[in-house]
Amino acid sequence: MNPTEVRPGIHWVGVNDRTTDLFEGQWPLPHGVSYNAYLVVGRKVALIDSVKAPFAEELLDKIARVVDPNRLDYLVVNHMEPDHSGALPVLRRVAPGAEVLATASALPMLARFYGLTRGVRAVADGETLDLGGKVLSFHPIPFVHWPETMATYEGTERVLFSCDAFGGFGALDGALFDDEADLAYYDPEVVRYFANIVGMHTRPVLRAIEKLQGLSIEVIAPSHGLVWRREPGRVVDLYGRLARMEGEPAVTVVYGSMYDHTRQMADAVACGVTAAGVPVRVVDAARVHPSTVLAEAWRRKGLIVGSPTYDTGIFPAVGQALRLIARKRLGNRVVGLFGSFGWRGGAVGKLAGLVDELGWELLGKVEFRGAPTADDLAQGRELGQAVAERVKG
Ligand code: FEO
Repeated sequence: MNPTEVRPGIHWVGVNDRTTDLFEGQWPLPHGVSYNAYLVVGRKVALIDSVKAPFAEELLDKIARVVDPNRLDYLVVNHMEPDHSGALPVLRRVAPGAEVLATASALPMLARFYGLTRGVRAVADGETLDLGGKVLSFHPIPFVHWPETMATYEGTERVLFSCDAFGGFGALDGALFDDEADLAYYDPEVVRYFANIVGMHTRPVLRAIEKLQGLSIEVIAPSHGLVWRREPGRVVDLYGRLARMEGEPAVTVVYGSMYDHTRQMADAVACGVTAAGVPVRVVDAARVHPSTVLAEAWRRKGLIVGSPTYDTGIFPAVGQALRLIARKRLGNRVVGLFGSFGWRGGAVGKLAGLVDELGWELLGKVEFRGAPTADDLAQGRELGQAVAERVKG
């Protein structure tokens, strides 16, 4: 994508990454990701964030189509994670006079990550920087996503550069702005990004939303995904709902199955949910990445988990997904459990222990031996219906 003017004097100069398979070396990127960087051009010029190191040349090319990169006066580092800071060594070589601005807690990271100690300055919370025709101010939002993270605000055009906050996975498919894009593609990518990357930090996200409400914002320009200019409140609302772990009034059924018995019950449970007039998504934990299960569970209020007993415990793929969900501290879920066993149960009991640890509301359990009978399946439908009725309420 070409450099794009977001507002007069403010230019997107980011890149699309469609080749990295795993974000942070672990989260699948089936639709890629964008690293958004922005030029703010007054009499002085600031670059807000950069890109992952392999894309530094592309960033430089885009900057050069707006201003001479040597003219950069400031490199604003909202966040030190290398998807945004990786091009700093190249930028420093090209623009040796540019001052690096970051929070105080970012300074030791700049030194250790890139050996940057000279021409580096810590900015204070609320500090302003007059670029001549453009005015920046700096607003730390710690732990969205690392402790040193801040957002930067441009006051004349009312643009918030929010860094990871309000970002999403998904490369920019030819559209930079929310009013040009297919939101049916981006919304699930925002949910997946939130659950995988930011989900651990729900309280900091809510604190950040509250803090940034004090600014008059017309455009939200995050460091990943779409720029929100038509309805910036939309993505803030979505982040707020995800951070409060409200969940849609819908149900996710997550299961594993060796010989189809537990799968038959998963289908019965899902039919029970549908009979109650509630949307449902069924996920085979052995056939999707745990990060996908996490995102699906984060999205919906109801969660019904099925596992056969395997080696006296929870089916490994189901256990792996639930451990990730527990590690990310997903709360506030209405839950049902089911599972089959051959000669001695165990999985459902162990799942119940996990539900108890997580403080989820357990509405019922169905455990059965071998292939499910018609009675077993009827109980599964009732379980689905009970969870559905609860999430509706
Ligand atoms: Fe997009 Fe936490 O870096």
